[in-house]
Amino acid sequence: MVIRAPGVYRPQRDTWLLVRALRLAPVPPGARVLDVCSGTGVLALAAAREGAGSVTAVDISRRAVLTARANAALHRVPLRVLRGDLLEPVAGESFDVIVANPPYVAWRSRARVRPSRAWCGGADGRLVLDRLCAAAPRCLSPGGILLVVHPAWCGVGRTLGLLRGAGMKAAVVDRCLEPFGPIMRALAPVLCDRGLIDAGQRTEELVVIHAARPLRP
Ligand SMILES: C[S@@+](CC[C@H](N)C(=O)[O-])C[C@H]1O[C@@H](n2cnc3c(N)ncnc32)[C@H](O)[C@@H]1O
Repeated sequence: MVIRAPGVYRPQRDTWLLVRALRLAPVPPGARVLDVCSGTGVLALAAAREGAGSVTAVDISRRAVLTARANAALHRVPLRVLRGDLLEPVAGESFDVIVANPPYVAWRSRARVRPSRAWCGGADGRLVLDRLCAAAPRCLSPGGILLVVHPAWCGVGRTLGLLRGAGMKAAVVDRCLEPFGPIMRALAPVLCDRGLIDAGQRTEELVVIHAARPLRP
């Protein structure tokens, strides 16, 4: 149970897929974990529960940062919660596990919903995701892992390609079919025009990607 300030992303199916992925990974005892794009901090709390030695959460939204700090206090978990853009607040540090549920919903100006940083991933949904794929491998310790979730229509091949291109061993480890929520229903015509989803499509497949940095280069 977490509290949530208005405008902060409500934990949902993509969040719960990553909670399960953290459990299955598993988180090595004492691991240094980074939850980037942390929202309420629910994934950071899950990592602490799974035996992490230290957990850092990063979000660009002030409200999300305050919410995650409140949730850490509520659950009496010593999270370090930082505000900033992706991995910038932890530049120079390395982590054994990075978990990320980035904003990935594609948005166009003629869409009938206003964009929110909580879910908007730019014109094709990959604005934050591509930057994450480029930056995360450099912040992982040897043998460290990245767990990231996004819908299949965002381009699973592209995510795998970017991570493999950075020397990571990457694969899809979990997936599920999810009915569109209100935002995806409102955006469906725009996404269909862009060729990202099919006409009449009302569900999306969410995928969890596991990428491991080799122990030796
Ligand atoms: C889809 S929500 C995920 C929240 C939470 N991790 C969860 O799974 O419930 C994405 C989060 O990314 C944050 N965000 C968006 N752009 C960001 C950026 N450039 N750097 C850090 N956080 C960002 C948003 O504020 C939002 O809290």
